[in-house]
Amino acid sequence: MQKNYTIKLQWRYLAFSVASWLLATVSVMAGSEFRPGEVWSDTDGNPIQAHGGGFLVHSNVYYWYGEDRTPGIRSAVACYSSTNLYGWKREGVALWQTNLPVVNDRRTFVERPKVIYNPRTKKFVMWMHLEQNGYSYARAGIATSDSPAGPFTFLKAIRPVANRNDFATLDPDPTGEKLLGSMFRDMNVYVDDDGRAYVFYAGEDNWTMYVASLDDDFTGPELPAVENKTWAKILVRDHREGPAPFKYRGKYYLITSACTGWRPNAADCAVANNILGPYKSLGNPCIGENADLTFKSQSTFVLPVPGSSDRFIFMADEWHPQNLPDSRYVWLPFTVRTNGTFTISWQERWKY
Ligand code: GAL
Repeated sequence: MQKNYTIKLQWRYLAFSVASWLLATVSVMAGSEFRPGEVWSDTDGNPIQAHGGGFLVHSNVYYWYGEDRTPGIRSAVACYSSTNLYGWKREGVALWQTNLPVVNDRRTFVERPKVIYNPRTKKFVMWMHLEQNGYSYARAGIATSDSPAGPFTFLKAIRPVANRNDFATLDPDPTGEKLLGSMFRDMNVYVDDDGRAYVFYAGEDNWTMYVASLDDDFTGPELPAVENKTWAKILVRDHREGPAPFKYRGKYYLITSACTGWRPNAADCAVANNILGPYKSLGNPCIGENADLTFKSQSTFVLPVPGSSDRFIFMADEWHPQNLPDSRYVWLPFTVRTNGTFTISWQERWKY
């Protein structure tokens, strides 16, 4: 009798364990909702390593590229894929640290990688903030690949806009290039409806945001470069970074953060009729508790909700500077009203 009871209990325990494991597997691995700020695992059950991320939709598949901070491997950029935005399969390393240039005997590293597809060359083109310790290298890195998951081949490091500015003295580059290019830090790329691509980046030691049209291959700036025609200074002297552009009803929106390093601050959204500006601030779109800290995160991307014309996902990083690999992802939905305004509020859990 006693034995039977024990066996029954054991079976119950086993059934319970299997059921909880299945549940956990379904919600964490396949994923069925977003839980901002929690640990997000890939379909193998490992925490997703794609910080400062960028997203590409190609042949009905979403690709998520980001800083791979997995300790102990020489990965610069990781790539994940998904068909529903909830479950992410690790495709592997898209760009290896060993493929990055060494400049003046000092290694470089990647932040905020973004990938776009060029239908003419059939190449996937990655733009990134390429940096060295000290953050004064401040260049755009460009890499290409024949397939979305890579591996990407590093092409060059440049400052896209040749422009004298007041910040040359901060640039230690001994070649004299310091007189030519504006610094390039937090960035994003955007492909417009007409197929032209643009790079947004924090220039002039983060004081002024720049936007520059890309050449036909998407691997450099459109040339000859003409201010306010192929490139422009926007958010002049506003000291903004973390640019996340999107388009709604023919207008260009640009969500940015302030510049406080890994520490969170208040977001801003600016809007323009022309991608090169001028942009006008709409203020901080976040509302509610921690709105002044962007819910403890920093903008990296805005993705249109699949199948919707007015709903978007605000994507941000909750940085953990003491343990960067453990930094989290904060994705929140928002809807743009027909008058062009919107707010973003915290959601513990949500589905699109
Ligand atoms: C932030 C930037 C991050 C990273 C960090 C380093 O301002 O957005 O991408 O560069 O500084 O302190």
